[in-house]
Amino acid sequence: MSTHTLAVVGGDGIGPDVTQAALAGVQAVAERYDFAVDTTDFDLGAERYLRTGVVVDEETISALRGHDAILLGAVGDPRVAPGVLERGLIVALRVAFAQSVNIRPVRLYPGVESPVRGVTPENCDLVVIRENTEGLYTGGGSLSHTGSDNAVAIQNSISTAAATADAVEFAFELARARRGRVTLCHKTNILVHAGRLWQDTVDQVASRYPDVEHDYVHADAMCQHLPLNPGRFDVVVTDNLFGDIISDLGATVQGGLGLAAGANYNPKGSAPSMYEPVHGSAPDIAGKGWANPAAATLSAALCLAGLGERQAALTLEAAVASVLAELPAFAGPDMGSDTAGLGQRIADRASQIDPHRHGADDKSLMSALSLLAQQRQTR
Ligand code: NAD
Ligand code: IPM
Ligand code: MN
Repeated sequence: MSTHTLAVVGGDGIGPDVTQAALAGVQAVAERYDFAVDTTDFDLGAERYLRTGVVVDEETISALRGHDAILLGAVGDPRVAPGVLERGLIVALRVAFAQSVNIRPVRLYPGVESPVRGVTPENCDLVVIRENTEGLYTGGGSLSHTGSDNAVAIQNSISTAAATADAVEFAFELARARRGRVTLCHKTNILVHAGRLWQDTVDQVASRYPDVEHDYVHADAMCQHLPLNPGRFDVVVTDNLFGDIISDLGATVQGGLGLAAGANYNPKGSAPSMYEPVHGSAPDIAGKGWANPAAATLSAALCLAGLGERQAALTLEAAVASVLAELPAFAGPDMGSDTAGLGQRIADRASQIDPHRHGADDKSLMSALSLLAQQRQTR
């Protein structure tokens, strides 16, 4: 029996609750498909920072590195200044583990009603690939003459050919395993330097993938096209900040932040990938049991796919979709169960459900990612 080691960082707010709920589903499919998942909890986030004054140390980073994958809930706490935990932990781990590709599916499951009229499961199944370590997130810059009329803020944006190529190549590989279409989303009409690097990279990579079509959409126009015509997209590749923003838009289109999954993926396999929902720590509902664990559970399913466990990933996804279809609401006190109760319901469903009940899933993200992970292991 194979064993996967999973580092678990629940984090802040609703993070620990949704992560615990997701792990119930993971253990259910592990049992069903005869593999083991060994979890180790890591005490990281606001409490640890407030107690010790340190967000994360080198020793913890090497301990995390020793795992096959990391499951993260969310971080961010109103008692801590903005950026301390978000940059100090999430961005730091994405960079430390070379997770240069952020994978964020936008898929409407049958039985979930999109708040946008006309969006259906048939026309809403795309994946946002977000470059995950650069752009405005590199953090360079300065603020001087603070508090005066002469205050100057400089926030540098950096794009390197290497990280851009990682994201673009991954997008083309994924599109080849799916419906064969890549859309670059940028602001080449204003950000002419970075835009040129991105467009050149897409053109170069595209020449090696003659079977994959590609086109271009400006980031502002994407805010209209994505909700009104999601069916025109298969894989969207974009820079870090545009990807952050359009993936929350995508989350809304697919039913809300409680349903939107994500993966911080190391495409070379040189360090563990980290799987986390798109949403944050949601301080407005923390401790109430009102958080939907679907996003965290779907992120855990992506983790299983990233570990090459295709059947388990498809089964956990099917279980989430099946439970979602029964819910009267996707967030808040009207969901029908609390976070832990929903996690248990998903886990029970995952023990029995037919993962192929909606037909062949060969081109789904879960299948494509499992395939890419298996190829990576055998290369
Ligand atoms: P948020 O995603 O935490 O919440 C936005 C809204 O969505 C809130 O109304 C919240 O109640 C709702 N929501 C989020 N997840 C939900 C779920 N699973 N079920 C039901 N409703 C859900 O974004 P925010 O309020 O802008 O940020 C809160 C904190 O989280 C900040 O500190 C921010 O920096 C941090 N953050 C962290 C991550 C991360 O850890 N990956 C991501 C985004 C934001
Ligand atoms: C996300 C979050 C993060 C981001 C923050 C918390 C670093 O918003 O994962 O989408 O901006 O990438
Ligand atoms: Mn975000």
